[in-house]
Amino acid sequence: MELKDIISIRDLDKRDITKILESAELMDDMIQKKGKSDELKDKILANLFFEPSTRTKLSFESAIKRLGGSHIEFSESTSSMLKGESFSDTIMTMDSYCDVMVVRHPYEGSARLAAELAECPVINAGDGSNQHPTQTLLDLYTIKKTKGMIKGQDIALIGDLKYGRTVHSLAYALAMFEANLTFISPEELQMPSYLVDEIKEKFDANVTQQTRLTRKDIFDIIYVTRIQKERFPDPHEYERVKGLYKIDLSVLHENTYIMHPLPRINEISHELDKTPHALYFKQAYYGIPVRMAILNILLNNK
Ligand code: NCD
Repeated sequence: MELKDIISIRDLDKRDITKILESAELMDDMIQKKGKSDELKDKILANLFFEPSTRTKLSFESAIKRLGGSHIEFSESTSSMLKGESFSDTIMTMDSYCDVMVVRHPYEGSARLAAELAECPVINAGDGSNQHPTQTLLDLYTIKKTKGMIKGQDIALIGDLKYGRTVHSLAYALAMFEANLTFISPEELQMPSYLVDEIKEKFDANVTQQTRLTRKDIFDIIYVTRIQKERFPDPHEYERVKGLYKIDLSVLHENTYIMHPLPRINEISHELDKTPHALYFKQAYYGIPVRMAILNILLNNK
């Protein structure tokens, strides 16, 4: 598989994604049986996070360690960026310190720039509101593990569809795999029209858009997202939409699963956590085998 970087979900076709999901399955088995292997012995992963992270950063660390490698971490607040060093010079330097780089940054296009500058593979761990492709891969893996297939599933994406990068990558991939999509958001946080047009044109996607979720709506999966407070230019606008959606047992049907990339603030009632509807913590675990598969493909070419 000829893949240097993973910057946008558009960098991957159906075959690439299927291969990553199959490889993740093997990694998942390996974790259950032996916990560890040495396929990436001596390989060094660098995490460069210019925005907060719990799951993405730590699951990449855990993934490289389970494959026998190690990690180093760049921290903006103790780095020479405080002396005025540029993003580009930072990337060029880190390139010679590691074998693969994971970059999260508030600016759209930052990871693409890093990939152009660096010789080592670059993985986009979120660039502003734009893309978060590895989250999408673990989301797809979660859906496949739970429902057996992606094609034909009725999937609702709900919440901040304007600023949420996870749903921008995910909507594209779900359309590619022929899921039926319902986008639920307030008018001001709708899925960008360029993306809706793109998936309709490229994949003939079946898309419905609405502003409410009611008990009448029946979905296989409801993918809930946080309102992205930090991306709102006007805090008053955030105040108007925060807390607009709250998923609790009253809107759920028996066979509906709830996913969330996390962190959740108040979008999902805690009463759901211990029910079979809740997939979000399992989904967070699946980040490990999926990211192991991604690292093995980028670094070992398999
Ligand atoms: C998401 C992100 O950073 O985009 N988190 C994650 O990686 N699991 C979602 C969010 O911050 O709301």
